Amino acid sequence: MFGELKPEVLLPLLETPLGRAYRYLRRTTSTQDAVKAWAEEGAPEGALVVAETQEKGRGRRGRPWQSAPGASLTFSVLLRPRLPPERFPLLSFAAGVALREACGVGGLKWPNDLLASDGRKLAGILLEAGRGYVVLGVGLNIREAPPGAAALAEFGPVERLEVLAGFLNRLGHSYASLEAGFRGDSRVAGFRGDSRVDKVSQVLTAWRRYSLTLGQEVLLETPQGPLRGRAADIAEDGSLLVEVSGTIRRVTSGDVALIGTFGERP
Ligand code: BTN
Repeated sequence: MFGELKPEVLLPLLETPLGRAYRYLRRTTSTQDAVKAWAEEGAPEGALVVAETQEKGRGRRGRPWQSAPGASLTFSVLLRPRLPPERFPLLSFAAGVALREACGVGGLKWPNDLLASDGRKLAGILLEAGRGYVVLGVGLNIREAPPGAAALAEFGPVERLEVLAGFLNRLGHSYASLEAGFRGDSRVAGFRGDSRVDKVSQVLTAWRRYSLTLGQEVLLETPQGPLRGRAADIAEDGSLLVEVSGTIRRVTSGDVALIGTFGERP
């Protein structure tokens, strides 16, 4: 039943190091933990763990993450970024763009949910940093979704293998290009002598293109309390810039409700 994600079918589709070291598990506590343990044993960059069932899947801010066996895509990938840590949020934006493009529908809500066009959540991305590495996890509803969320199959035919390979290849290319920008390395395909600034702005521009957040009136639950305003832009450090009574406020973490857009109300 679950054969479509086995290594022998995924590996021939891969264009970059992401996913080349691959463990496909029926069951684990969380693919985040499985990749972290593997990273501590020396797993190579791009190491991938896919699981059909997670006993303790987690989302942002410690929330539980539920995924249906065989009817979701649940995976984590190891990155060992040669980027300054303050640039790690760019990886999250690059992952959001790669996921949107691999799925072909919906849009991005800050910091990094993929929503269907009616506002229901299709997928979430979780970035967790370890010693010298980052584990990037994705949970995507494919054929089943928890109440109130959406499944990708509602919007057309979908193959998990294609979505997974499409995501890994897109992220792999933008990651290589971003890192090359920071190293000034012109040997990476697609580098074309662009500067670091160009590489960063390509990621931000792509994220803005798919954004459902920017330009909207938002209510943010921040660690400092609720904040209401207009989402004006994102910044390189991953923050959301919110205009509140003519002043720009920089929000580094929190949950966004898009007021009025999808019937979300304060
Ligand atoms: C969120 O929207 O809060 C992020 C959800 C991330 C869920 C994925 S599923 C694969 C990986 N393993 C986990 O335990 N969490 C992430």
